Amino acid sequence: QISSASAALADKGNHRHFMAKEIYEQPETISHTLAHYVDLAAEQVSLREKLPFDFAKLSRLTITACGTAYYAGLVAKYWFERYARLAVDIDVASEFRYREPPLPENGLMLVISQSGETADTLAALRYAAKEGQHIAALVNVQESTIAREADVVFPTLCGPEIGVASTKAFTAQLTALASLAIAAGQARGVLEPSEAHALVRALIELPSAVSEALRSEGAIEEISRGLSRASDVLYLGRGQMFPLALEGALKLKEISYIHAEGYAAGELKHGPIALVNEDMPVVVVAPSDELIEKTLSNMHEVAARGGKIILITDDEGAVQAGDGITDILLMPKAHPFVAPILSAIPVQLLAYHTAVFMGTDVDQPRNLAKSVTVE
Ligand code: G6P
Repeated sequence: QISSASAALADKGNHRHFMAKEIYEQPETISHTLAHYVDLAAEQVSLREKLPFDFAKLSRLTITACGTAYYAGLVAKYWFERYARLAVDIDVASEFRYREPPLPENGLMLVISQSGETADTLAALRYAAKEGQHIAALVNVQESTIAREADVVFPTLCGPEIGVASTKAFTAQLTALASLAIAAGQARGVLEPSEAHALVRALIELPSAVSEALRSEGAIEEISRGLSRASDVLYLGRGQMFPLALEGALKLKEISYIHAEGYAAGELKHGPIALVNEDMPVVVVAPSDELIEKTLSNMHEVAARGGKIILITDDEGAVQAGDGITDILLMPKAHPFVAPILSAIPVQLLAYHTAVFMGTDVDQPRNLAKSVTVE
């Protein structure tokens, strides 16, 4: 629960809800977090933490977390595998802790938690420590229990998050994880200096792209009016955008109480396509990358069945193809590496405005708590 002290200290500025304020803070909170991990003058990742392990020698990375932090970890899996060729195993903490998986020698356990107090995540950390893993924690609250029990603490620097539905902590987690994946890629000899530099530049340019994305709020509000009349919404994404589909669906159900599901676009034909009809909006998150054609083809399968499509993309070509798309949210152009962070903005704003149309208690949705310290 929000402590009355932190709620009293925080104020909403000109915003109606803490969630809106926190969404709008993201250009700054991403910059702030990035400045911790990147030497902005040299344009390279420079970790301040003394690492109790060597990325080059790690046998495996295990990631565990809950809720939105888990989805940040799921994006990071794609990054660490691709840019550092490091094998990643990821699970929600409530499963991991009872699954008691065997963990390899010289493995790293990375737990991700905004609050640093989530009971399942803490239990997963303790299990991994007992199994001899190196323990790293990515947390927003640096005095938290999880931070105290880790061998190394990586901070997100986004200030207190008051809205129960996580927004700025998610993009700060992704920013830190992206930096760590670059560091790992360099240490493991996978990324050439020029490749690492291009990825760092993409991160440095991200805050201004996020500011630009926030300017599409008017269009998003219009689309949200339609979403607020739906009883079910499907979100589709592929590759590193699949976790964004999951996060989009989670945000919508948490605060608007509309049933939503996130799916890997390629799984559409293995089930959810049976649900598609003209009453079911389908949000497709498809920035221009090497997978966009595949995702767009899934989208056309939805259109052919009369589904209403809301396409989030930075690809104007996809926009001109046009057929069957009900609404398009054109995002600023960005390097595909940072697309999951940039796409968080429209996904958060869609959920926010839909919830406002529904008249729900956006900052304190029913039955949910900011920090889940009991099982
Ligand atoms: C709760 C919150 C979520 C959060 C999750 C994990 O469910 O409502 O917003 O993502 O806990 O919290 P943590 O503090 O560990 O990131």
